[in-house]
Amino acid sequence: MTDRIRFIVVPLLGFVVTALPARAHGQVGAQRWTTAGTELEAASGTLAVSETRPIPRAAVASGLALSGRGTPFVIAPRVDGIAGGLATDAVTLEAWVSIDTPTQWGGVVGAIQDNAEAETGMILGYGYEKPYFGIASTGVDDVDGKLTYLESSKPYEIGKWHHLVGTYDGTTMRLYVDGEPVAESRDQSGPVRFRGDEPLVIGGYVDRNEDHGLDGRLLEVSILPEAISAAEVRRRFARHADLAALPPEIDTTLAWMVEPFLVWPTTDAMSVVAETMAPSAMEVRVRDESGDFQRTWRNEQAARIHEFRIEGLDANTKYFYEVVADAGKSSLSGGVKTFRTAADRGDPFTFVAIGDTQSQPAVVKRIADLAFETRPSLLVHAGDLVTTGGDKGHWTNHFFPNMRPLIDRVAIMPVLGNHEQDAKLYYDYMSLPDPERWYSFSYGDADFFMIDGNRSLADRSAQLEWLETALAASDAEWKFAVLHQPPWTSDSDDYGDTYQTSSKRGDPNARNITSLLEKHGVDLCFSGHVHDYERTFPMVGEDVVPWDEGGVIYVTTAGGGGHLEDFDPANTTFGHRKARRHHFVYCGIHDGILEFQAMDEDGRLFDVLTLDKRDGRRSVARAAREGVEIAPKTPTWRDAPADGR
Ligand SMILES: [Fe+2]
Ligand SMILES: [Fe+2]
Repeated sequence: MTDRIRFIVVPLLGFVVTALPARAHGQVGAQRWTTAGTELEAASGTLAVSETRPIPRAAVASGLALSGRGTPFVIAPRVDGIAGGLATDAVTLEAWVSIDTPTQWGGVVGAIQDNAEAETGMILGYGYEKPYFGIASTGVDDVDGKLTYLESSKPYEIGKWHHLVGTYDGTTMRLYVDGEPVAESRDQSGPVRFRGDEPLVIGGYVDRNEDHGLDGRLLEVSILPEAISAAEVRRRFARHADLAALPPEIDTTLAWMVEPFLVWPTTDAMSVVAETMAPSAMEVRVRDESGDFQRTWRNEQAARIHEFRIEGLDANTKYFYEVVADAGKSSLSGGVKTFRTAADRGDPFTFVAIGDTQSQPAVVKRIADLAFETRPSLLVHAGDLVTTGGDKGHWTNHFFPNMRPLIDRVAIMPVLGNHEQDAKLYYDYMSLPDPERWYSFSYGDADFFMIDGNRSLADRSAQLEWLETALAASDAEWKFAVLHQPPWTSDSDDYGDTYQTSSKRGDPNARNITSLLEKHGVDLCFSGHVHDYERTFPMVGEDVVPWDEGGVIYVTTAGGGGHLEDFDPANTTFGHRKARRHHFVYCGIHDGILEFQAMDEDGRLFDVLTLDKRDGRRSVARAAREGVEIAPKTPTWRDAPADGR
């Protein structure tokens, strides 16, 4: 039981509670779960599985094969939600397990937090080579707890059944593999330390910011409220000693970790990225509608993540593609999917903008499906794709599955949110124009300037200098900036408590770009981060100025799944259309006209805007305001001689 809970209870019950021994009556007793088909069955008196996550898994001859795509079984989302609580004076964690894919933080059964704020709880797991047993106790004098990961002196064998047991009696941690003691530590003392929010899980390693699923087989798992003896460990091992005698068996059937998806569309190329559970060779077969164009790109080098740059394509043309992975005798097809290359200058096109798909997978799925219903040409993402960029499970179990079929068919162009944490996984998955963390690209009559709002945008920063150069070089009719943090927002509390004091009304670093956006005629600036929808009045500096006189419209589109935030109770001077809803933005561009719509998660249209450049008014007005004499319209590609392009 946590200190926090005891704190609440003591004043009410006084000595009754404090007089109880630490292993209070009511704490859960011996717990045992066995696999049954693809589920986990609780023995009598054992806590039932409270949530089974949709992780690919299969029943096998002995036990259950897990895919490693994440942790399937949550017994309790928080240990402090378990009636009576887990025993803490002494504990045994036991499992029959076979590991197919070694990993740094492999878990079999545990309830831990191991992150910047805390090191608490208990876990039985495995690293790249050896099993381990982790315990944090109250006897270790550390403000936020300290875990000892006791590592086996012997490695496990890949694909072989092992009996793992960790025991802790309040003074000594012991680890046993296949009935034999393999490690011992006296680093911890006193009851196991829980802070309360440790999720009790089976089949992986899960804490607040990580989820590493077991890729292997599982037969049974026990948690006992005592430290069993070495003799008892041997006796329990003997019950399934036949399993331990079996030769290793590794599931070599290839499976997707991340099914193929599309990124970085241009008029002549497209990138396809995919990841398999085990290393594989991979190829992508591409053909056009007529079948005249047929080509295969192949990476022979075995790897998990493959990235293909499909080149030599025609602009604004539909293609079919199929990704096939192979390893040994096993091969795997991603199915035949489609894409369309980028629209050329002058071609009508549509795009959707989504931000903050970081949590609430069901919402993410709804938004992505609604966005796909519009059959956009392009998907722009305003950042915070995932909750924790360094957590592979967030990508493989939350983001990618819920964004389908949209990202199978429509290329994504994202910017980094703060939640990506600049993690390597972002760069592994997102194949983008150099230098990736920021970039620009053209699509139809638009140029998009994709900015990393987590990095400095101060005067003379590398990124601001790049932005200025890129904006100045653009001859596109439409210019859009995208960065996660909003330069302007009417949010209630991200930049100061608007109920009590004052607000900066936006991200100070992001604010650095606004004068460049104004100077170079950027039409719309898309942001995420503040989980709601807002379209400001067009702005120059802090003033509201008509769009066709050069005002830049700031759109916060952060409604992809993150928990909703709210607005300043009084409107801001620039605040225009707002909505506290999950949503996405849809834009269609043709012939100098932009049709803009915002659609909520129920498919309701709640904002509409049309921007029309046909008479060149915006350019003329801006020039007039700046005292510049110009032709009736700033030259764009349309005005260039036909043979000049
Ligand atoms: Fe967010
Ligand atoms: Fe954010």
